[in-house]
Amino acid sequence: MSLEGRAAVITGATSGIGFRVACALSRRGVKLVLGGRRADVLEQHCEVLPDALYLAGDIAEPDMPGRLLELALERHGRLDIVVNNAGQNHNGPIESVDVEQVCGMARVNVEAAFRMAYLAVKHFRDVGRGHLVNTSSVLGFKVRPYAGAYAGTKYAVEALSEALRLELAGTPIKVTCVEPGLVITDLHRDHADRPEVAQDVAEPLMPEEVAEMIVYALEQPDHIATPRLMILPQSQSI
Ligand SMILES: NC(=O)c1ccc[n+]([C@@H]2O[C@H](COP(=O)([O-])OP(=O)(O)OC[C@H]3O[C@@H](n4cnc5c(N)ncnc54)[C@H](OP(=O)(O)O)[C@@H]3O)[C@@H](O)[C@H]2O)c1
Repeated sequence: MSLEGRAAVITGATSGIGFRVACALSRRGVKLVLGGRRADVLEQHCEVLPDALYLAGDIAEPDMPGRLLELALERHGRLDIVVNNAGQNHNGPIESVDVEQVCGMARVNVEAAFRMAYLAVKHFRDVGRGHLVNTSSVLGFKVRPYAGAYAGTKYAVEALSEALRLELAGTPIKVTCVEPGLVITDLHRDHADRPEVAQDVAEPLMPEEVAEMIVYALEQPDHIATPRLMILPQSQSI
C-alpha cells in the first residue's frame, strides 16, 4: 500500500531508529514532523528531508505530545501515522542504579508514550483512519538482571498497545508494537561496556534495518494487522 502524501509524527527522531524511520518514510513521500530534544540535529535533518518540520523539546513535558500532533495538522493538513518512539535506557545493579534517572526514564518511556498513544488514537478516531506504532523492545516481554525498570516500561507499552488493538479491532485504525532486540544506536551511550560485548551479540541490528520493518508494517493493506513485530539479531540468544 502506498504511503505517498501521508503525514507522520515521529518522536525520538534525532537519532537511531526514529531518524531511520524518518528517512525511510521520506523516501516514500511521507510528510514529517520530527520530535526530540536536540534542536540543532533536528534542524539538520529537516534541511535534507523534504516536507519535514520539527518541534524540539522534552517529550515528558505534558503538552509536548499534543503540540507535535497539532503541528502536523496545522502545517501538513493531516496526520496518518504516529511513531511513538522516544525512549531512554537506564539500567544498573541495585547498589549503583540511579533511581532519579530510572524515574525520568519511566516518564519518557511510559507517561509520554501513553499521552501520545491516547492523543493519536483520539485523532485517528475523529478522522476514521490512522496507524500508531509504539517502539517497545524484546524486553517488553522478557527481563534481564539490572534492566528490570527498563523492561517494566516496555511491558507497560505492550499492555497498552494490546488493549488498544482489541478496542480498535474492526475499525480502520491500526496499532503496531515493535519489539527490537539489540540495535546499535546512541541508546546505550552511557553504558560502561559496549552492549554487543556485554550481551554477547556478534552481529546486532542496525537502526535502518528496524526502520524498514516498521515501514513494512505501515505498508500492509487495510485488512492486514501487524500488532507485534519482533526483530532480533540472529546471533542474540535472549
Ligand atoms: N537500541 C536498542 O537496542 C533498542 C532495542 C529495543 C528497543 N529500543 C527502543 O527504540 C527506541 C529508540 O531508541 P534508539 O535505540 O533509536 O536510541 P537513540 O538513538 O538514543 O534514540 C532515542 C531517541 O529518543 C529521544 N529522547 C530521549 N529522551 C527524550 C526526551 N526526554 N524528550 C524527547 N526526546 C527524547 C532522543 O532524542 P534527544 O536525545 O534529542 O532528546 C532520541 O531521538 C526507544 O524507545 C528504545 O527503548 C531500542
